[in-house]
Formats: sequence, structure tokens, C-alpha cells
Amino acid sequence: MGGLLEQLRSEHVLDASGFKSLLLCDDKALIDDLHRSAREVTDQVFGRKIFLRGLMEISNHCRNNCRYCGLRRDNHEIHRYRLTTEEIMDSAQKAFGLGFRTFVLQGGEDPAEDDAWVEATVGQLRKRFPTCAITLSLGEKSRESYLRFKRAGADRYLLRHETHNEGHYRLLHPKEMSLAHRLQCLEWLRQLGFQTGCGMMVGSPGQTVDNLVEDLQYIHDSRPAMVGMGPFIPHHVTPFAHETAGSVELTLRLISIVRLMLPKVLLPATTALGSMMPGGRMAGLRAGANVLMPNVSPVSARRAYELYEHKDPGAIDTIEDWKRLETNLRLAGFEIGIGRGDGLIHS
Ligand code: 5AD
Ligand code: SF4
Repeated sequence: MGGLLEQLRSEHVLDASGFKSLLLCDDKALIDDLHRSAREVTDQVFGRKIFLRGLMEISNHCRNNCRYCGLRRDNHEIHRYRLTTEEIMDSAQKAFGLGFRTFVLQGGEDPAEDDAWVEATVGQLRKRFPTCAITLSLGEKSRESYLRFKRAGADRYLLRHETHNEGHYRLLHPKEMSLAHRLQCLEWLRQLGFQTGCGMMVGSPGQTVDNLVEDLQYIHDSRPAMVGMGPFIPHHVTPFAHETAGSVELTLRLISIVRLMLPKVLLPATTALGSMMPGGRMAGLRAGANVLMPNVSPVSARRAYELYEHKDPGAIDTIEDWKRLETNLRLAGFEIGIGRGDGLIHS
């Protein structure tokens, strides 16, 4: 087994059976080695710097009906909201003042936020914050829409592929959605020059170890700039209300494997990880993650953006919050990375 870890570290890939053995391995010492090794590689590439992204949840309206997500259109129990451009500009201004140099605009696929609106909002952010990176996470759009967003000044786009297995994708999504289209969107984004992020939930209903191996192979081959992974957490107003949550340990293991596969990739310690376990995000950083995405949305928006139950707000609203995070990071031997924290080009 130790040979597999060596091989992954030196060759940055394993065959399917190698990945599977690592994912199933119950040798605690080896898994500790995996995390240590992934952190060493992260240190070599990024040092102890952790990049912060200011996350704005700009709308919880969604035209889709993904079976796992609390924002699905059949959830009639949530209060729906969308931020105005002015509210977004105000949040960005506040976040900039605290030190953030990347803004992530994340939301459901809200038909009211049409291309012209996104373009205008991105354009205003670009003009007011020329030194900042603008990341969008607004779901599937046409190639033309993505091009408009890029021209308006967006640099990065996050669109989790959710699973690379056709049958599993079908189980998680209603029939009007397709894996082929999701992957097409990711390919368009890459072609248009976005730093692109994919990713998946860990332990989503019906997910097998073989599915995760397929995800790893896709991540290996598509060489994304960023990979977002977090445990699945059931939400009570979804068809998956009574399913079991994903495992924190397996999520940490995947973070380490992806780090060793793509040493230069940006890996967030996600909100879902933090929501499943106190200290979950810090454990993510120790396993090779190097990005945190604290919430900087207006307080009014936070509770309603409920992808899953007991979501940890993970917010930074004041300089005291920023300082507290800085202290916690320092105690764990990390520091806040100043600046945009761009991804590196994979060699
Ligand atoms: N548990 C964990 N993650 C979820 N997401 C959506 N619903 C859930 C859930 N119940 C993730 C999806 C989506 C991202 C925005 O949040 O992977 O891409
Ligand atoms: Fe909408 Fe995204 Fe939730 Fe699917 S995962 S319902 S696209 S917000």
C-alpha cells in the first residue's frame, strides 16, 4: 500500500484499481501519511498561505430541481431572495475593506438574473475593483453567455460536475439535466479562458467507490484550476431527506489524493466540510486544501441560502472576524495569503 502513495506522489496518477485501494484502505497510518504527504506538496507549491475568497450568495432562486439541493424549485418552504447589484457592490466594498481580493458570486440558476444583468454587475465590480479576481458560480449557461461574462471581466467560474458517471448523474438530477451538457459547459469555460473549477459531493446518494474513481480520472484528465469537494448533507425538503450524510474522512482523503494528482490545483476546505464537523475546514487545510471561502453576503441573505441542513455560516463580517480567523490559522501554522491567489498552470 505504501508503494501506491509513493507512486501517486511521484507519478501524479494511479490506475483505477490503485485509486480504489486508496479510497477503501483502512490502514490509519497510511492515511495519515497520505494527508501528511499532500500537505508537504501543498507547502512546496503554495507555502503555508491560505487564500481567502469572499463568497456572496447572490440569489437562491433556481429553475433546476436537483434532488439533493435545498434550493431546488420544488422546495416551496424557503423564502426566496435575490441581491440587487447595489447590495452586491456594497458587500464587495465591505469585503475589500477587510482584505478580500477575490469575490465569488454564487447562486442558483435564476432566470431573473439574465445575461445583461450579470454582465452589468460583473462590469461594475471589474471597474470598481480592478485589482480583484471575480469568480462566478451561476450554473449552466450558453457559450455566448459565458463569453459575455468573460468580456465583462469575470476571471474564474466554478461549476461542479457532481459526478462523472452517467447513471449516477441520472439518479441525482431530473431528466431535463444531463451530464453531457454539464461537461460541455465546463469545456466551453475552459476554452474561453476562465480558470475553471469542477468538483463533486462525497457520499451523495447512490455514489459508489467506482464512481469516485471515475471522478478522479476526470479531474486528472481535465486539469481544472480548482476542485471543490464536500460531504453530501441531506436537506429535509428534498427527495433525499432521509439519506445518510457523506463522510468527512473520505472527503479529506479525496482532498489529499487530488492534491497529489494536481500539486498546483486550488482546493477549498468547503463550507459543507465545516458544517459536518467542528474544525472540519482546518482538517481540510491539513489534508492539502489551500483556499477558504468565508461568506460575505448581507446577513439577511444567509439563512435562506440553505443548500443543506445546519449549514455553517462561516462568515466574515468585521475586522474582528478576520483577525480571529487569522489567529486560528496562525495557531495551526498557516497564514492568510494576500492578493488574488491565482491558480498556477499545471505542468
Ligand atoms: N449537500 C452538500 N452539498 C450540496 N450541494 C448542493 N446540495 C448539497 C447538499 N445537500 C453542493 C453541490 C453544488 C454546490 C453549490 O453545493 O455540489 O454544486
Ligand atoms: Fe439549483 Fe445548483 Fe441547487 Fe441544482 S445544485 S437546484 S442548480 S442551486
